[in-house]
Amino acid sequence: MTRAAFPDLRLRRTRRTAWSRAMVRETHLTPANLIWPLFVCAGEGVEEPIASLPGVSRWSVDLLVARACEAVAAGIPCLALFPYTEADRRSDDGAEALNPANLMCRATAAIKQALGDDIGVLTDVALDPYTSHGQDGLIDGAGRVLNDETVAVLVGQALNQARAGADIIAPSDMMDGRIGAIRKSLEAEGFGHVQIMSYAAKYASAFYGPFRDAVGSRGLLKGDKKGYQMDPANAEEALREVEMDLAEGADSVMVKPGLPYLDIVRAVKQRFEVPVFTYQVSGEYAMIEAAAAAGAGDRDALVLETLLAFRRAGASGILTYHALHAARLLGA
Ligand code: PBG
Repeated sequence: MTRAAFPDLRLRRTRRTAWSRAMVRETHLTPANLIWPLFVCAGEGVEEPIASLPGVSRWSVDLLVARACEAVAAGIPCLALFPYTEADRRSDDGAEALNPANLMCRATAAIKQALGDDIGVLTDVALDPYTSHGQDGLIDGAGRVLNDETVAVLVGQALNQARAGADIIAPSDMMDGRIGAIRKSLEAEGFGHVQIMSYAAKYASAFYGPFRDAVGSRGLLKGDKKGYQMDPANAEEALREVEMDLAEGADSVMVKPGLPYLDIVRAVKQRFEVPVFTYQVSGEYAMIEAAAAAGAGDRDALVLETLLAFRRAGASGILTYHALHAARLLGA
């Protein structure tokens, strides 16, 4: 096809007015594209601000339900829950993850009881919020994370969450084979309707620091997670991870972190044509907040531009700590 040349072709014509820009816009961002990660803590009437995540707090279950109501009103379809576990409930084997009355289960049940199917609850499967060493799995004497032994515990954790009413199980641990094992057990235990959103391509990233403060594992973690989370240098390997998790029964996949990995989002979407989600992680949130506070740009514009970029790259949705703010800006 031969295209017109200047001056027959003037690409600025369609950009001239707001109505015309709206007509030719290729990508749309709505509150339905947002998943809101929330941190839950013990107690009643408790809000604990997280210093390294300005504007984000941990909430006790009662206040968390109030946040969930705000999310529904703003048009957010799903929450992602993470617990802050007190040191005395942590152990080497992360057994608190299997406690049917742990914070995650109580929070999930309370939100489901209050709101039913008005909002989805996505629960995190990994042991780092519960271990005394801060790793996502069980460790051997040398501190290495054991794969198959960890998967057995993750299956129990996933079932525990499903019994509490979780709608989407989201394994963020990066063990091999955990999606298949969890899927089989969910089917066997009568939870065939429960979705799995796999953190399929999760990188060993420097952008997770504030999250580790939020769940209380930063000071505990010795070493790093490079033995199971992916090398930031690898893209082909991300496609293999996604292929494996889809074959094992994942309903959707996630790429994490977000903005530095947009190429991965695009590649996964093009190759597999499945719902792809991306997590704009804590360090990314903190960077935007710091940039705005330093006067580097308008906060609202920075937030919406980055979220739109995920959609342009092919993401169905974004986990972001800016979800409520962004949803309100977008107007439900
Ligand atoms: C660990 C987990 C991490 C995040 C979600 N689940 C961090 C890590 O791997 O240490 C990070 C999320 C964020 O930074 O916002 N299971």
